[in-house]
Amino acid sequence: MPATYETIELRKEDNGIAVLTINRPEKLNALNNSVLNELESVFDTIANDKEIRGLILEGAGEKAFVAGADISELADLNEESGRAASEKGQRIFLKIENCPKPVVAIVHGYALGGGAELAMTAHLRIATPKAVFGLPEVSLGLIPGYGGTQRLTKLVGKAKAMELILTADKVSAEKALTLGLVNHVVAEDPGSEARKILGRIIKNGPLAVSRAIKAINAAETGDGYSTEASLFGSLCNTDDFREGTAAFLDKRSPEFTGK
Ligand code: COA
Repeated sequence: MPATYETIELRKEDNGIAVLTINRPEKLNALNNSVLNELESVFDTIANDKEIRGLILEGAGEKAFVAGADISELADLNEESGRAASEKGQRIFLKIENCPKPVVAIVHGYALGGGAELAMTAHLRIATPKAVFGLPEVSLGLIPGYGGTQRLTKLVGKAKAMELILTADKVSAEKALTLGLVNHVVAEDPGSEARKILGRIIKNGPLAVSRAIKAINAAETGDGYSTEASLFGSLCNTDDFREGTAAFLDKRSPEFTGK
């Protein structure tokens, strides 16, 4: 029986794509402990479910993707519990970033604080013109704590990350596009655009796609070249590699089995 969740929703489509919705629209999908715990659990399910080849990550309601960590739960933190909360958020967000299936976030409204950090864990981001990005933690006397100082710096570079985080400024979708924070800004039907992109990804060898994600993520850990070489080598030992190269030589479409 599929797991039931209270603050998120996972819906599988019949095209290999699943849609994961953060579902607390009355609180602008703020990340409380329940959402975080359910995210941690659902990403195990997603990683292990062979029917899911790609994922769309979105927020429920009109206004927000996610308006941040739940400030009502932050207010009582002390040094020890604050460090633990940050480490927990980091662990869960790293798990999303390392998801072996491609993850596309659709940001249609506020993506603030932990919401911007969550969007940055996705492999690709599509925004609508109404999206608003920002890391306003310093305005609360804090800093981003779920990996945001690191991911933003890698995505947009140090100078721009410094400006965004230190000013706590909110930026539009267009500005986010120029910064390199989002891949595309789509006015009409961003879901259909996300499905088109995922469709182009999941027609490829699934093992190759998941190992490409791993190799690209390794660019940030310092051992990227050796990780790339060993993943490349491991793929040479797969049916998908033999099928992909044979199909090219036979001038036909490949039929990948993920083996
Ligand atoms: N944590 C907890 N609750 C939040 C929240 C958050 N990060 N963001 C929004 N909410 C709640 C509000 O408290 C409100 O709840 P209520 O109806 O019970 O009072 C509800 O969501 C709707 O938000 P509201 O502020 O009324 O909407 P708005 O359209 O006037 O403003 C924002 C939208 C996003 C500008 C505003 O909600 C905001 O600034 N949120 C905090 C953003 C932030 O600092 N995030 C970083 C946290 S580290």
